[in-house]
Amino acid sequence: MRHQVCIIGGGPSGLLLSLLLRRAGVDAVVLERRSRDYVLSRIRAGVLEQGLCDILRQAGVGTRMDREGFVHDGTIITAHGTTVHIDFKKLTGKSVMIYGQTEVTHDLYDELDRIGAPIFHEAEDVAIHDADTDAPYVTFSHQGQTRRVDCDYIAGCDGFHGVSRRSIPESVRREFEHVYPFGWLGILAHTPPVADELVYSGHERGFALCSMRNANLSRHYLQVPLTDKVEDWSDEAFWAELKRRLPPHLAEILVTGPSIEKSIAPLRSFISEPMSWGRIYLAGDAAHIVPPTGAKGLNLAASDVWYLSRALIAQFAGDGQLLQDYSATALARVWKASRFSWSMTRMLHEFPAEGEFLARMQAAEVDYLAHSEAAQTALAENYVGLPY
Ligand code: APR
Ligand code: PHB
Repeated sequence: MRHQVCIIGGGPSGLLLSLLLRRAGVDAVVLERRSRDYVLSRIRAGVLEQGLCDILRQAGVGTRMDREGFVHDGTIITAHGTTVHIDFKKLTGKSVMIYGQTEVTHDLYDELDRIGAPIFHEAEDVAIHDADTDAPYVTFSHQGQTRRVDCDYIAGCDGFHGVSRRSIPESVRREFEHVYPFGWLGILAHTPPVADELVYSGHERGFALCSMRNANLSRHYLQVPLTDKVEDWSDEAFWAELKRRLPPHLAEILVTGPSIEKSIAPLRSFISEPMSWGRIYLAGDAAHIVPPTGAKGLNLAASDVWYLSRALIAQFAGDGQLLQDYSATALARVWKASRFSWSMTRMLHEFPAEGEFLARMQAAEVDYLAHSEAAQTALAENYVGLPY
């Protein structure tokens, strides 16, 4: 078969790219290794920057988000006995939307189905060929048959473990990685959120985050050692530890209940440069990973996809400049969002190996944040998303 663009990976990056291209008359196929049910069962963060909300609306997939999502005008940061309310709306004029990544993925699948966009699920052994020529192609097996896609461009949207990044020669690639010495234990529970906004809490026992999906579905996280296993954490132990790490007035009103999901994820910062080689263009987790502390993973994937969709559309219209600049353009925003995620992680987590000096620096940073509108504005403008 032949398509203008072959998109590898049917997570949020690949699906959004497919839709944005189709809206502009560019034809793309999506090859996804997993089943649709599997993709839709993954629980990920749920904070959408205004830029992403606008893209979804423009692409015609914002209706359910606007109906069921929750606009948050601020967030609460509490650490070392200081509680700071960051008023996004007042400081930046912008807000964020609370709407699960799984729901975004759902909406994208529904619309792509409606317009008949081709998606192959359970595409196995996807391999990229001749990416450094004018006639690249991708092979895969599907329902026992070997298939081949001839295309003009390949979009690598296949996440951290995908094949696309690894198809760029090692001699060309430069990888930057920072692994944090802890993970996040997350639970989802049918309980009301503890506050109207998200609560990021730094504590000497470790970081905690109270997030939410809706008025009766909360998502909470605890910093845990990488050696901990999910089985080590009963629901009772989780709630007791969360209460210890929250300010007393929130701990008192926290409603607990049985968890419906519980998992541990390691934290890392990772960036691979360049984000393009030959006819391969990487977007989203295929090129970079951020720790979840600033909720930037999905939003960064969306800005890559936005840049890449504009560049491919211009290329097919005869102007190749944006595509030539894609890697540099995307990376400039990636590094800034990665810096923010790293600094939020650094400010709010316990780093036991680093001792009292870091703890005092963190306390000074939160105290500065509490008393400086400039510091609050800097945090807010990064949290609601830098422009693109
Ligand atoms: N062939 C085909 N598909 C693949 C392959 C492969 N070899 N390897 C991985 N995939 C698929 C995965 O099954 C997954 O569905 O690529 C998809 C990548 O999706 P994500 O990992 O969700 O990455 P992305 O779409 O870039 O979304 C970024 O989602 O992962 C979160 O934290 C991340 O929030 C961020 C956002
Ligand atoms: C979530 O709701 O899962 C969530 C929210 C904010 C974060 C990370 C995760 O920073």
